[in-house]
Amino acid sequence: MKNIALIGFMGSGKSTVGKVLSKRLGYSYTDTDKLIERRTRKTIPEIFEDDGEDKFRQIESAILDEALAQSEAVVSCGGGIVKLERNRTMLKEKAIVVYLKTDPKEVFLRVGRSGHTRPLLNANDPEAEINRLLKEREPLYKEVADKVVDTTGKSLEEVVDLILEALEAEGLKV
Ligand code: S3P
Repeated sequence: MKNIALIGFMGSGKSTVGKVLSKRLGYSYTDTDKLIERRTRKTIPEIFEDDGEDKFRQIESAILDEALAQSEAVVSCGGGIVKLERNRTMLKEKAIVVYLKTDPKEVFLRVGRSGHTRPLLNANDPEAEINRLLKEREPLYKEVADKVVDTTGKSLEEVVDLILEALEAEGLKV
């Protein structure tokens, strides 16, 4: 069976939703950020600081390969995974992709002050940065997504139920 990849902006709930979803489906669970940290023995901010974003993206792409080589896995992807075209191609081929769409205001409330753990939000005006990045990425998320689930104002359980419904409509037995 195909993997299920969760994509979306920082703070859209990919990790929490992914864990619960994998249990409900009896699938394994992989979080690309966590796998990067385990393999490199560095935190994400350390990689950005020591090696820069481009190097981070290379590592992330190799980790995505590894994650998608599984079957019946729920893979929660870092928010910037869609930046590289090769990742978008890989996602389309190897997973049913669910885009967790979240209103920028809610993103800001959830993660706006987490610049110490999310280097890209370590900006003078994190709200403006969220808006800028979302505008840039929204078309890429949509390009890759088989299903779009709006998480704004929804509970974890509501989001998981919506994803399961969307997957059933996609023909997946859940
Ligand atoms: C990033 C999102 C982060 C992490 C890194 C870069 C991005 O993951 O991969 O800080 O470019 O949006 P989350 O979306 O899990 O926070």
